[in-house]
Amino acid sequence: QHPWPEEIDVFTGPHLRMKQLVYEALEKLSVTNFKDDVSLIGLLGCINSTFQELKHHEEIENTCILKVLQHRLINKQIQAIVRDVHKDNHVLEILSLARKGLKSASKSKNNLNRRTFEDRLKGALESFQRDFLPHMRHEEEVFQPLLVEYFSFEELKEIKAQVHHLHSAF
Ligand code: FEO
Repeated sequence: QHPWPEEIDVFTGPHLRMKQLVYEALEKLSVTNFKDDVSLIGLLGCINSTFQELKHHEEIENTCILKVLQHRLINKQIQAIVRDVHKDNHVLEILSLARKGLKSASKSKNNLNRRTFEDRLKGALESFQRDFLPHMRHEEEVFQPLLVEYFSFEELKEIKAQVHHLHSAF
């Protein structure tokens, strides 16, 4: 339904995978018993790998798409929006909570306050979730048209190939 062909659509493919991964992690969260070590470690392992991949996704976008787009934009305000789009989105906070929880829950004598930890993790995931789909939509509906405006078809095909290659190398 977009006015540009699939060959130069740089966002949609990786976003389908990210949405699937996040959906699976949230499904797991909904059935996790935080008082049970095995259940909690299973969840944290899943969150850790999901958000590692998400972080990787953002790094690919930063390097291959957003940085090059920023250089072509003339409007300083739009430049700043493109530059800051991955700031403060809770990915690093969630990764650090997952690592902390994994470290603590895997030790026999663990010192994790389960209730506090559960609240913090759920709070961070809720904040993340609030912005996640709108963020992806923004990239697809606002940044993709900017790319189409400022880059040639061949350039975008090249960017898409890089983006695809780096995602599959994760
Ligand atoms: Fe495609 Fe910025 O997440």
